[in-house]
Parts: sequence; structure tokens; C-alpha cells
Amino acid sequence: MTIEDCKLIKLPEFSDNRGSLCAIENNKEIPFEIKRIYYLYKNLKDTIRGSHAHKELKQLIIAIKGSFDILLDDGNNKKNFNLNSEKEGLFICPMIWRELSNFSSDAVCLVLASDLYKEKDYYRDYDDFLISLNKK
Ligand code: TYD
Repeated sequence: MTIEDCKLIKLPEFSDNRGSLCAIENNKEIPFEIKRIYYLYKNLKDTIRGSHAHKELKQLIIAIKGSFDILLDDGNNKKNFNLNSEKEGLFICPMIWRELSNFSSDAVCLVLASDLYKEKDYYRDYDDFLISLNKK
């Protein structure tokens, strides 16, 4: 898996004079089944979140409010995404190091994940991540 397998996904939006609604269904808009959601909020400005890779987890990350950057790194290449819309999500496949930064003061980051929280699924050390890819 490389950063080329990660992509911005436009979400279907339903807008009328009552407001807007976006819907996401398992294996339809996103290529996995959602088993967990979590969100980052409050005091995110000037912090860096993430700084890990997952062995198997797939995720969709949405800037449900405000904006932030996500830097993806597959051990060979890096790519930065600026998320700033409720109408799109960044799909991140397994084995991608990610760093979330440059949060606006109002940012809320919604994460849809393909599995429950399992600490064993994490690489939290960048060198361990590179070693697992035979890059070190
Ligand atoms: P952490 O992995 O440091 O957040 P991030 O990498 O996204 O910046 O998680 C912060 C804390 O929350 C840590 O104690 C683990 C806990 N946590 C859960 O209990 N369940 C979860 O689904 C997640 C994502 C984290």
C-alpha cells in the first residue's frame, strides 16, 4: 500500500433550504465497514496529532469543522492534504504514517475507522515503521 492508494473522497451532499446533509454508507462511499468513530476537538491549534501508522486499519478523516493538514508518508513518498470541507474525506489505507497539524482554532476532526481500538495495530515509532518496510 502506498500514498497513491489514499485519496480524497467527495461525499454526497443533500442541500435544501433547511440546510445540508452528507451521508456515508459502508462499502459504498468508502471501501470498508465502519466499526468505530472518534473525533478530535478543542485546543487542537498548535498541536500535532497522529504521528503513527496502522498495520491493518483503514480510516476516513473528515474536517467536520474548520481545517487542518494531514501529511501522509509511505516510507518512500510524502504527500500533504489540506482538509477544509465537510463534504470530503481523506481515505487512508494501512501502513501509512500520518501527521495531523496546522489545525484552525475551531477544528473538529472526525475519523471513521474499520476496526475497534487495538494498540497492537499501531506503529508509534517512525523507525519501527521504516524497519517493517525494510527501509532501515
Ligand atoms: P492517540 O492515539 O494518542 O491519538 P492520536 O494518535 O489520534 O493523536 O490517542 C489518545 C488517547 O486516546 C490514548 O490514550 C488512546 C485513546 N484512544 C482510545 O481509547 N480509543 C480510540 O479509539 C483512540 C483513537 C484513542
